Amino acid sequence: MRRRAEELHKCNDGEEVEVWGWVRNRRRHGRLVFIDLRDSTGVVQVAVKGGIADDESLEKASSIRKESAIKIRGYVVHDPRAPGGVEVRCTKLEVIGESLDDYPLRKGVGAKVLYDNRHLYIRSPKITALLKIRSNLIGAVHEHFRSKGFYEVDCPTIITAAVEGGATLFEVNYFGSRAYLTQSVQFYQEAAIYSLEKVYSVQPSFRAEKSRTTRHLTEFWHVEAELAFADLETLINTVEDLVHNVVIRTEELSEKELKILGRKIRTEEVEKPFFRIKYEEALGILREHGLDAEWGIDIGADEERIISSEFDRPVFLTHFPREVKAFYHRLDPTDRRVTLSADLLAPRGNGEIVGGGVRIHDYDELIERIREFQLDPNDYKWYIDLRRFGSVPHVGFGMGIERILKWIIDLPHVRAACLFPRTTTRIYP
Ligand code: 4AD
Ligand code: MG
Repeated sequence: MRRRAEELHKCNDGEEVEVWGWVRNRRRHGRLVFIDLRDSTGVVQVAVKGGIADDESLEKASSIRKESAIKIRGYVVHDPRAPGGVEVRCTKLEVIGESLDDYPLRKGVGAKVLYDNRHLYIRSPKITALLKIRSNLIGAVHEHFRSKGFYEVDCPTIITAAVEGGATLFEVNYFGSRAYLTQSVQFYQEAAIYSLEKVYSVQPSFRAEKSRTTRHLTEFWHVEAELAFADLETLINTVEDLVHNVVIRTEELSEKELKILGRKIRTEEVEKPFFRIKYEEALGILREHGLDAEWGIDIGADEERIISSEFDRPVFLTHFPREVKAFYHRLDPTDRRVTLSADLLAPRGNGEIVGGGVRIHDYDELIERIREFQLDPNDYKWYIDLRRFGSVPHVGFGMGIERILKWIIDLPHVRAACLFPRTTTRIYP
């Protein structure tokens, strides 16, 4: 019977098993060959010994290349000397798919080789652990939203007008007319709330962002949500709950993987409540650090790093000036210089992980803001149309999956959180 590597410690001594997987390493001592056999659940040591295994199996084991796929028949031996305390003594080795060449990835090769060979590198136990943590995190996102009465919606990826400014749009030739890859599904979610009230989605977003930082991808996975009949306070509480629950749940689900990576998720960093400061107060912090932070500056990567280093838990930055936030942000009726917006910065200098705010629900105000940004209302016809038929106050936000992972498991770069990252300098493999 086939057993997974992680199940073997539960087997009895002498129990006959089959294990299927890939040869991670092989060590030969005369008529004894040790194979570290890897499957999706872990690595198990297999001993192929003359006399126990048949000659053909021993011969195969002696020469088989790394990463060949094999099937082992044998029996379980609990042995404290084996990694994991259990070993499979092979009676028969069968090759499923032999490696045709020597495996190109060795200890000590640089980051470029690893990313050029990402299709192979993802087999390593560390990347496997990381991908499982990512899967756990996305599972936790779905669990959270569904438990809070949100409906999942799937929105288009090919669109006709910018959500987050024209400068970062990827153009697509759509049967001879111009289209783009979406930067955010926000506008479609704003339409969906009139049907479902509370919606969310997990989809890729695209940004032709030239910024070569450790936090920018050109394709990232975007968790977005939109809520009808809601204000800034509700938005902030919704984001706080999401980030808190998702980080706690990911930690619970990922015990084994975190051990493999040698990482710890600092759950104390998501204790509620998170901090809340207004843009204006953030300028004060920047000035204390010697920056010439004038009203109206955008809070870029460097500024975020300074601000978020001041806090040991996430901090909401609210009330950004109207000039620095996209046209759809509602102005504060008590101070029209600022928007009812909220970004969430992760602590320890990690910077923005969530961006969101209150949307304009008034028809005239929306048109005025579109014009203020020198955009063409004709490009936003259906979006404006929503304000003509039962418009209600509403809020929404977007959260980057890779940014969250970079923060909670201390990745050097968001690209490390992707199966196949896309950055300004990488579109292969
Ligand atoms: O702040 P952003 O640009 O907000 C929006 O797109 C809104 N329309 C979302 C909404 O309200 N529905 O992006 C939201 C989040 C950021 O906080 C960040 O976590 C992530 O998306 N993000 C990126 N992650 C990786 N690489 C990039 N280039 C990213 N751009 C944004
Ligand atoms: Mg933002």
